Amino acid sequence: MSDNLARHFLLREDVTFLNHGSFGACPRPVFAAYQAFQLELENEPVEFLGRRLTDLMRTPREVLAAELGTSADNLVGLTNATTGLNIVAQSLDLKPGDQILTTDHEYSALEKTWAYVCRKTGAEIVVVKVPMPLTSEAAFTDAIIAGMTERTRVLFLSHITSPTALVFPIERAIAEARQRGIWSVIDGAHTPGHIPLDLDALGADFYSGNCHKWLMSPKGSAFLHARPEVQHLLNPLVVSHGWTEQSKEPGARGAFGNSPFIDEIEMQGTRDPSAWLAVPAAIAFRAENDWWAIADHCRALAQDTALRLGELTGLAPLSSPQFCAPQMVAMPIPECDPAEIHKTLFDRYKIEIPVFRWQETCIARISVQGYNSRPQMDRLIAALTELLALAPSARG
Ligand SMILES: Cc1ncc(COP(=O)(O)O)c(C=O)c1O
Repeated sequence: MSDNLARHFLLREDVTFLNHGSFGACPRPVFAAYQAFQLELENEPVEFLGRRLTDLMRTPREVLAAELGTSADNLVGLTNATTGLNIVAQSLDLKPGDQILTTDHEYSALEKTWAYVCRKTGAEIVVVKVPMPLTSEAAFTDAIIAGMTERTRVLFLSHITSPTALVFPIERAIAEARQRGIWSVIDGAHTPGHIPLDLDALGADFYSGNCHKWLMSPKGSAFLHARPEVQHLLNPLVVSHGWTEQSKEPGARGAFGNSPFIDEIEMQGTRDPSAWLAVPAAIAFRAENDWWAIADHCRALAQDTALRLGELTGLAPLSSPQFCAPQMVAMPIPECDPAEIHKTLFDRYKIEIPVFRWQETCIARISVQGYNSRPQMDRLIAALTELLALAPSARG
């Protein structure tokens, strides 16, 4: 929470960067590790991609698995959570009339993914309206369970939501889905490095998360986790050298000696794996700098800023603090043209923050990372006060 921590990052000094949630910033030592891999690759491409890649890919899997409470055999490295969730959505055997149960807080690209799958399979999307404001685990879980029918085949939930920055209490819904034979598919794009994760204890069938947001690894690093019992259900989006004719037979191995799950998904033709390879450097950076303690300070600053803005707008928060993402707050703001406010915040004040309409509510979503500071929050509040005519004198 200081200039001291800001020095670890490559962000432009003239911009107040309050949007780590969309595209996280990568610390200098992690970025250096990433570039070192790229250089090594370029020095001897055939050695790197031809002979060493299988071994190189394993280390991030092992380090990340230890961080996220699972086994390296249950993880594959990918470029982003969209890809991980597409692999799942496009693999599951869905038929006309099958239902995909989800909420009204999901990320638009994944809503499109399921709509695409429905068009191909004849399955239907059923959207549960989450009771708002979110103040109770029971209200959330009851609403999800009430949406389950004998036709529900998939439960698709964000763990931390994008438009509303809520931590959904998904544990009981996942357990209920398992009992009913419904596949649980979790969008964890915002969770690694943001909230402590124990993937095995959570027990979701499929969970995809980004390392390039809150874990602070380079862009293009993410994972897909699948329980061992369901890994055979998946097919790669891109069929390449890792695939074998026998991959669906019991006990089959992939073409590179790993499970078919790993070999089929990780091998996608020639690509630069450096972002994935730098994931251990990001985890080491966080440990060396006690990042969970820094995250606690970020949470306090995020909540304080939300409170100050709430006092100015008179608008209630979307949830009780317990369900608010620790380092990200979606703050309702008065009726406005969100695109115009977003543009002016950047053009006039050099503040990078998403401002958008979600359902009937205009929202400014603030992300707080270790490089942010209280004076930056003061700047945001001053700018919004001016742009939205929030000051009591302006309102009167
Ligand atoms: C909830 C959620 N899911 C999925 C994504 C997609 O992440 P990516 O573009 O890294 O695949 C995002 C991106 O912000 C997100 O917020």
